[in-house]
Amino acid sequence: MRILVCGGAGYIGSHTCLALVGRGHQVVIADSGVNSSPRVVPRLRRLAGVPVPVHRVDLRDRVALTALFATYRFDAVLHFAALKAVGDSCRRPLEYFDNNISGTIALLQAMQCAGVRRLVFSSSATVYGEPAQVPVREDAGLSVMNPYGRTKLVAEQLIGDLCTSDPDFRAANLRYFNPVGAHASGVIGEDPCGEPTNLMPYICQVAVGAREKLRVFGGDYPTPDGTGVRDYIHVVDLARAHVDALEFMVRADRSLTVNLGTGRGVSVLDLVHAFERASGRRVPYEIVERRPGDAASVYADPSLAHELLGWRAEFDVDAMCRDAWRWQSMNPEGYRTATRREAPSRGRR
Ligand code: UFG
Repeated sequence: MRILVCGGAGYIGSHTCLALVGRGHQVVIADSGVNSSPRVVPRLRRLAGVPVPVHRVDLRDRVALTALFATYRFDAVLHFAALKAVGDSCRRPLEYFDNNISGTIALLQAMQCAGVRRLVFSSSATVYGEPAQVPVREDAGLSVMNPYGRTKLVAEQLIGDLCTSDPDFRAANLRYFNPVGAHASGVIGEDPCGEPTNLMPYICQVAVGAREKLRVFGGDYPTPDGTGVRDYIHVVDLARAHVDALEFMVRADRSLTVNLGTGRGVSVLDLVHAFERASGRRVPYEIVERRPGDAASVYADPSLAHELLGWRAEFDVDAMCRDAWRWQSMNPEGYRTATRREAPSRGRR
């Protein structure tokens, strides 16, 4: 299939492009560049070994979007393009509503005009708010904890209404838990702008010496070691799930909503210690106040994804840490670190 990947130059999008190409699909990327580096694309092309057209498009730019759908005949769209920092969303809610919700509406309209009726949407476990019960199943209650979470929930609902109104429209809502790790090559990975807000990139930056110590938010949660428990999932497993969901949606001709996690709860300190083992580096930390809005324990019941897609996460926490560390140590400044091929050649030829 020929797939439009919106946000394909970002962290999860870039790994999914590789997974799509690996399964024989053609990929066209649309990315606004707000949260991705121009260095991703040449690296992605090198890993993919095939041409990957890239268009700099903000989904809210309807003229550019229409032109894109007029240029290619797409079989499906994978939609990763969104702002995703919880704290930032509380400071700039309108920006999040506009980018994430207006962008999604413009994309759905362009798809409808072009007669493209298959969508895989990047949703999040954030739609469960603070879950009443763990592991969390897809039929758990939904709620909103912050503007970012609202954008994901609203987008799921918009997509649901479209599926109801158009009996031929198929969508897969994929509710990610905590994606971490990097491609095994160490060539692509997660490169947050500024100070990381998520745990794994923060640990990586401490281990590489870019930051002094990790602040562990809360040591008095009702969890085995008092620190927050989450369901970390290797980004390569997550990427594969997108291809599985896309192919299932086409084969079974139906929509779906599934959790993507491992089903295992891992505490902040578990992750710190696994990372120390994988990297051979110390990760100094101090336990500080809880971060407002954090739940004690959130992990998935991923059995529906297995039942429908035959998908299961394969990589464990040690593999996640090993691959995150390979990426970070090969790219201490993320994509600002030039590889040997990218570095300007010095000396005489
Ligand atoms: N944590 C620290 N120190 C840090 C960063 C995080 O102790 O510097 C802790 C948090 O308190 C939490 C755990 O590490 O217990 C994970 O925190 P993250 O920020 O990495 O991830 P969250 O589970 O808070 O958030 C993630 C996504 C959100 C999504 C949310 C709910 O980043 O986009 O899951 O699904 F909304």
